[in-house]
Amino acid sequence: MHIIKAENYKEMSELAASKIVEQVNKKSDSVLGLATGSTPEGLYKEVIQAYKDGNVSFKNVTSFNLDEYVGLNKDNDQSYYYYMHHLLFDHIDINSDQANLPNGDANDLQEECNRYEKAIQQAGGIDIQILGIGLNGHIGFNEPGTLFSMQTHIVDLDESTRQANARFFNSIEDVPLQAITMGIDSIMQSKEIILLVSGSQKAEALDKLVNGPITEDFPASILQKHSNVTIIADREARSELS
Ligand code: F6R
Repeated sequence: MHIIKAENYKEMSELAASKIVEQVNKKSDSVLGLATGSTPEGLYKEVIQAYKDGNVSFKNVTSFNLDEYVGLNKDNDQSYYYYMHHLLFDHIDINSDQANLPNGDANDLQEECNRYEKAIQQAGGIDIQILGIGLNGHIGFNEPGTLFSMQTHIVDLDESTRQANARFFNSIEDVPLQAITMGIDSIMQSKEIILLVSGSQKAEALDKLVNGPITEDFPASILQKHSNVTIIADREARSELS
């Protein structure tokens, strides 16, 4: 794993955006794997700026998001569909038909998982996958204990994850109990992975990811086995790295 040292959140976001811009300029029909949460918000702002400055076009890009809550429709402002459209897709020239998220409101959720996994493969697989990391080591919504062999699947969200994400909802009761997420196996098939880490509250997780044992109890640890992972971490996130 290669670690790029950013000074702060802004620099982490700029460095990640330049990797995306470089990728899309090198291969205009790139397949991007995208994440939600607080961490990539700055990255998306920088990407929008690069697009507005005429430095990149997403016309031929396909994207797949990692995950979506179960039971929230597209208009719900807490859905990841809403997040992605408001924070990125509506501000760049990506074809919205090619900007994919799992449909957490599907009638048959299992069929939706199978369809999504197949769609990623039919698009040729993910060229660059952006990841954040949860305090408990989750990537996507693959919570501790998830088998490394899983592809896109339905998960019961950990109580700690629901509490961490409650900040976006009116109350913890409103946080969905389940989500659809790409599995660890789906993520590991990406050709390149860029993991963003910011802030001192993520410092312990980053240390475990880099130096801890590879175990399903800390899902992100599997990234040690991927041949092309870049971690972009700011100073605070690196404060416990041994
Ligand atoms: C989001 C996702 C999650 C987040 C993680 C960190 O699509 O899959 O794994 O990356 O929960 O979230 P933040 O960035 O809000 O700390």
